[in-house]
Amino acid sequence: MTAESTKQAGTPSLSESMRARFAREVAKYPAEQKQSAVMACLAIVQQELGHVSIENEKAVADYLGMPVIAVHEVTTFYNMYNQHPVGRYKLNVCTNLPCQLRDGSKALKHLEHKLGIAMGETTADGLFTLQQSECLGACADSPVMLVNDRAMCSFMSNDKLDQLVDGLRAEAAASSSSAGTK
Ligand code: FES
Repeated sequence: MTAESTKQAGTPSLSESMRARFAREVAKYPAEQKQSAVMACLAIVQQELGHVSIENEKAVADYLGMPVIAVHEVTTFYNMYNQHPVGRYKLNVCTNLPCQLRDGSKALKHLEHKLGIAMGETTADGLFTLQQSECLGACADSPVMLVNDRAMCSFMSNDKLDQLVDGLRAEAAASSSSAGTK
């Protein structure tokens, strides 16, 4: 049996720190409802590994005693879970219908042009991943976008998009040069 086939056949392992964090989340629910911790556990996997692979979904399913497909449904339903590695800055532009009618698609096109990538891709330097998203609950502020699932940006004109990308590039350059001087 090859190493790869062993890996596929076996139960994926979780690090000690992930197990400890999972246990804290599971403890918040009655024992028979530990599956309620699935979103928190997936978030922990993503914080530690950057994304949630199919193998990680299996590990979470095993830990919580639930079907892998049920975990996969959660991962694929919510935008915030990365199913593949993403760049340092994940830019999610809302292109749902209300935003589409108010320049959401134009904002996405502008970012594609500025970053030199298509929607769904990551820049060669690993800095930016560009994605479209479903409604972010701020339709009146269109074009709207989320940076790294947390920072909401509203009324994103082309000028504001340029400022955002340039600012994030400068931030990344500053942090890598300060890391190099340590
Ligand atoms: S449709 Fe874009 S925020 Fe609602």
